[in-house]
Amino acid sequence: MNRQNQKIYKNSFSLFLKSTNEKKVILDFVKKNISLGKVKNVLDIGGGNGALALPLARLKKNVTVVEPNKQLAGKLNSRRIKYVNKTWENYKSSKKFDLVVAAYVVTYFKKKDLPKLIDKMYELVLPGGCLIIFTIDPKRGSWRGIHTYFYQLLGIEHKSSTYLLKSYLSKYKHVCSRSIKTLVKTKNISEMLKILAFDFYQYEPNFTKYKIELEKYLKKHLVGKGVVLKMVHEVFIIKK
Ligand SMILES: C[S@@+](CC[C@H](N)C(=O)[O-])C[C@H]1O[C@@H](n2cnc3c(N)ncnc32)[C@H](O)[C@@H]1O
Repeated sequence: MNRQNQKIYKNSFSLFLKSTNEKKVILDFVKKNISLGKVKNVLDIGGGNGALALPLARLKKNVTVVEPNKQLAGKLNSRRIKYVNKTWENYKSSKKFDLVVAAYVVTYFKKKDLPKLIDKMYELVLPGGCLIIFTIDPKRGSWRGIHTYFYQLLGIEHKSSTYLLKSYLSKYKHVCSRSIKTLVKTKNISEMLKILAFDFYQYEPNFTKYKIELEKYLKKHLVGKGVVLKMVHEVFIIKK
C-alpha cells in the first residue's frame, strides 16, 4: 500500500473504531475464552493502531505487533509493546508466543498464500498456547451485506477468505469456532461511507462511482438520522 492509501486507510479505520463497540466486545471475548492469567507474550498480527495490543499491554502482557501500516501503528507507545513494521509474509521470529492473535487480517492475504501463512501463525504458538483468528461472517449482517451489494454492482464474484480459512483450519485437531455480534453506528450516511472507504480503497474509482447506489442501500439502515450496520464475526480458536 502506498503512503497516500495508508493515510486514507488510517483516517477511515480510526473513524470506524470510534463508531463501533467491536473492540470492547472482542476484548471481552478474549478475556472470557482465553486463560489470560497464563499468558505472558502475545503476537498481534496486523495489529492496526493497537486496539487490542494496548489493553493487553495494560493487563501486563508483552505484545509484539506486526503491522505494515506505519501511519496506524507508528505511534504505538507502551514499554510492553514492540512494534515491527512488516507484513506477516515478511516477518521472521525464532521466539514463540503463548497467544497469537490475527484480527481481521486474513482477508488481506493472497488466497494462494493463506495455508502457509496460517501454518506460520500456528508454528509460533508455544505448546499449551493458542492462536485466535477473527474474521467477518461471509453471509450474515448488514455490514457484510453492503460489501456483497457493492461486488454485485461491480459484477465481480468475491469469495470471502473466511470460507477458505474454515476449510483449511479443519486439519487442526483442537479448533473451535464462535460467533459474535457488534454494531457500527454513524450520525449520518456520509459518515458511514467515509468508514467504508477503509475496506474499499482498492476499488477506487468505483467506490466513488457507485456512491448514489451505496447511499440508497444505507437508507434502508437508517435509525432516526443515523445509520446502523450489524457485523457478525466468526472467531476461530486453535489450541496447541
Ligand atoms: C481491519 S484492520 C484490523 C486491525 C486490528 N487487528 C484490529 O482489530 O483493530 C487490518 C490490519 O491488517 C493490516 N494488514 C494488511 N495486510 C497485512 C499483512 N500482509 N500482514 C500484516 N498486516 C496486514 C492492515 O494494515 C490493518 O492494520
